[in-house]
Amino acid sequence: MYRKLNNLAAGPTMTHTRSLPYDIDSAPARFAWAVTGSGHGLVESLEIAATLLPHVDLFLSRAAQEVLPLYQIDLAQLKQRFRVFRDNSASAVPVGMLYDETRYHTVVVAPATSNTVAKCAFGISDTLPTNMFAQAGKLGIPGIVFACDTQPVVVTKSPLDWVELRPRNIELDNVARLRQIDHCHVVCSLDELRAAIDARIADIRMPAPEAESTCTSA
Ligand SMILES: Cc1cc2nc3c(=O)[nH]c(=O)nc-3n(C[C@H](O)[C@H](O)[C@H](O)COP(=O)(O)O)c2cc1C
Repeated sequence: MYRKLNNLAAGPTMTHTRSLPYDIDSAPARFAWAVTGSGHGLVESLEIAATLLPHVDLFLSRAAQEVLPLYQIDLAQLKQRFRVFRDNSASAVPVGMLYDETRYHTVVVAPATSNTVAKCAFGISDTLPTNMFAQAGKLGIPGIVFACDTQPVVVTKSPLDWVELRPRNIELDNVARLRQIDHCHVVCSLDELRAAIDARIADIRMPAPEAESTCTSA
């Protein structure tokens, strides 16, 4: 069972000023977790992200920043536990951290709106999450995207009530297209997201294969 989101601000590290359990400059490589403006899977995705602490940092789209409080998630409280990067530059300045290979080994986009899925599928990068995804791909850093609109009927929680959505063919087609993008693993449920992250963790912990010997005895 995942930790409840309300506990994100609880625990011994909670203070009224930001106090992180690690120093970003000396911490080992970790997950870069991009959050978009999707209400669907928002709380649950952040619960999964919290299980990775302190080995995860958050990267919010502008829409994510607006949607968070609508689901009773307080940005100030998130910042007490996570290092949070907001989308407040035209060139997605935090993306530069991906060039330092010791910082991030994986980029997760969860939850991903149909807007972000479409942009990622067509190589558009004009938000912090889409820039993180695109630049990671160009660097060969694996990406995991939790696409929300993947079924003919999606039942999701709006800020007021549960609603039933019927993704159009364009949304389903974009998910299919995203699956073709290099270094990208698309997941369609929270269980698949957790499994993909566990698999990635297992991958990272795997000892590097021994270099093949090319020597022949003379
Ligand atoms: C309360 C609320 C919930 C939303 N939930 C979703 C959602 O589940 N899926 C989705 O694709 N868009 C959703 N949206 C719309 C996106 O936030 C909007 O398309 C936004 O432009 C996405 O920007 P981003 O992809 O850069 O985060 C929601 C908007 C609001 C206000």
